[in-house]
Amino acid sequence: MSPVSQSDLDALAAAARDAREHAHAPYSRYRVGAALLDEHGRVHSGCNVENAAYPQSLCAEAVALGALVRAGAKHVRAVVVAGGEAAEAIVPCGGCRQKLSEFAAADTPVASVDAQGWRARHTLGELLPFGFGPAHVGTR
Ligand code: THU
Repeated sequence: MSPVSQSDLDALAAAARDAREHAHAPYSRYRVGAALLDEHGRVHSGCNVENAAYPQSLCAEAVALGALVRAGAKHVRAVVVAGGEAAEAIVPCGGCRQKLSEFAAADTPVASVDAQGWRARHTLGELLPFGFGPAHVGTR
């Protein structure tokens, strides 16, 4: 499989920014979009969906993962998360790092964009070292 290119990342950034426009974030006012590249070269996106019962809210990455799985994909090859104007570049929360790890590899790039342009860039393994995975439960 060809390595993830800058044009792949640019397409993900555009999709993440577009998804962010649809965020439902009336409580935190922190709008997030996420886009994932699958093993077929397709892009899947999601936005955060908050709820008046706060813990029922969904992160953008989780919504994007649902779209990827629903489309029949099995692997996440790259992740781009789009945030707003906060000084600190957005990175996936701990729960989303775990959710992504079910479908992504340690070397999967996880990048962020915001109003300033490209921001943080890590691998999933950097964000989630020593993660819990299928091997721990004996299914792989
Ligand atoms: N949020 C995401 O959608 N993704 C992240 O990686 C970090 C946080 C959302 C959850 C909540 O709706 C808002 O951002 C503030 O935490």
